[in-house]
Amino acid sequence: MSSKAVVMSQAPDGASFEIYLTWSDCTLKVEANQTALQVLLEAGVAISPGCLTGGCGECATAYVEGDMIHKDTCLNAADRQRLFCPCVSRARTRIVIAE
Ligand code: FES
Repeated sequence: MSSKAVVMSQAPDGASFEIYLTWSDCTLKVEANQTALQVLLEAGVAISPGCLTGGCGECATAYVEGDMIHKDTCLNAADRQRLFCPCVSRARTRIVIAE
């Protein structure tokens, strides 16, 4: 099974939220049954997923704005001020990602 197929098989719960990509002036919608990682990969954002369970930090992505709901087990409090793991984490508000 390809890594993309594994990503697509995940069905997390939670509310939908948006991710704004500053470099392309594009807003992505993460539906309740999707992960942010799925949506970012589908949009062509260069992320190399690892565990897909929030434990490895391979997918850690920098954000500049957003009220995150961190669900990983690998980032510390300082990391979480600027990084999130899109394989598991969600947001209460729109997330802004800058290159
Ligand atoms: S892929 Fe391992 S923390 Fe996201």
